[in-house]
Amino acid sequence: MTFTWGVATSAYQIEGAAAEDGRTPSIWDTFSREVVGETGDVACDHYHRMPDDVQLIKSLGVDAYRFSISWPRVQPGGRGPANPAGLAFYDRLVDELLAAGIDPWVTLYHWDLPQELEDAGGWPHRDTAYRFADLSMLVYERLKDRVRNWGTVNEPWCVAYLGYEHGVHAPGRRDFGAALAATHHLLLAHGLVARQIWTPENTVSIALNIGTSTPASDDPVDVAAAWRADGNVARIFLDPLRHGRYPADVVEDLAARGYTLPVHDGDLEIISERPIDLLGVNFYFGQDFAGTDLEGNTIDALGRPVVREIKPDAPVTDLGWPITPDRFTKLLLRLHHDYGFPLAVTENGAVYEDHPDASGFVADSARTAYLRDHVDAVFAARAEGADVRGYFAWSLMDNFEWAEGYAKRFGLVHVDYETQARTPKQSALWFRDRILSRP
Ligand code: FCB
Repeated sequence: MTFTWGVATSAYQIEGAAAEDGRTPSIWDTFSREVVGETGDVACDHYHRMPDDVQLIKSLGVDAYRFSISWPRVQPGGRGPANPAGLAFYDRLVDELLAAGIDPWVTLYHWDLPQELEDAGGWPHRDTAYRFADLSMLVYERLKDRVRNWGTVNEPWCVAYLGYEHGVHAPGRRDFGAALAATHHLLLAHGLVARQIWTPENTVSIALNIGTSTPASDDPVDVAAAWRADGNVARIFLDPLRHGRYPADVVEDLAARGYTLPVHDGDLEIISERPIDLLGVNFYFGQDFAGTDLEGNTIDALGRPVVREIKPDAPVTDLGWPITPDRFTKLLLRLHHDYGFPLAVTENGAVYEDHPDASGFVADSARTAYLRDHVDAVFAARAEGADVRGYFAWSLMDNFEWAEGYAKRFGLVHVDYETQARTPKQSALWFRDRILSRP
């Protein structure tokens, strides 16, 4: 089995050209303007520099490029016919990639919901799943003759919980019931698309950010807390995809809090009808969980079992995220054993403060070490039997890091936002050499 090496980006984070050629605002245009204070209006100006960026990707020696489709560029307002100029951009991108010998991996939804669909209720509203299926088919029909790798939704947990429960991502709502409804509708959206685009030639995937839910100790209270945490972030997505049902313990916990998932007859069949060909794993760091609060209580003020996240005792990146490659190996093995899906790492990377020299070169040895250790972790999991078929570094280049704006840089390539000059960092050169050495 060949192993695919790639780099990843998403539309809103790099494209810019926010109001060009018929594109309308997404929830991230609104949220970035109102809350973040920096926007993706220009970002990396990739919309205008795309052919050069494809050559940049080629220079890294990767096999594949994972990018996303901007919904409001392709279908302004989220309904109706395709915008020819929007579709034409992705058509050209696919052609440029193929001409450069790079396999296009399309993600259909990476967070930029048309604002009009949020105004109509957003992901907590069931119709949004059907709107997404329409958008997906517009894209699919145009690109299906050249694209084999199709990802539906990127990180539904972040969409649902960061966006609708915690309010720290667009659209900035704070309503747990809405997040729960969004969870189900994102899975439904996946299923509606997967069953239409599945063919023996295509690889259909969904990308989940699963992290790890490691018990803080062997104490059964911590073990139970970690299992609950795992239910809320991992099994609530994985079990419907694999088994066509939500995990019983999660459903019971929700019922005890007065919540139910808005499941209609037939939904779970739609979600699981076409088992995914590949599970995309987006991994940044692992988490530990304890079942006691700082005073030792096991039940919180609302009468619920305590589930307290603890940062693993590990060095951190400049975003404060712990560096836990050993957990990564365990996660990949766990997904392999418990679910049996073929896997690909669709995102992995790190933020460090970059200090370019006079020529723009960044000697990012810490990012390089992070990538090396995590690539090693992937191959350790493979050596123990996990069916991991690819690794995509996040990200091709520095870009608009959502709520963090432009201050936090994840790129293998440095971007000077004043001049839009791109300069491969040391990590990019390391990555190229690592790919050349092949496993
Ligand atoms: C993931 C997102 C991606 C990027 C990385 C750092 O959650 O999918 O767009 O922002 O985090």
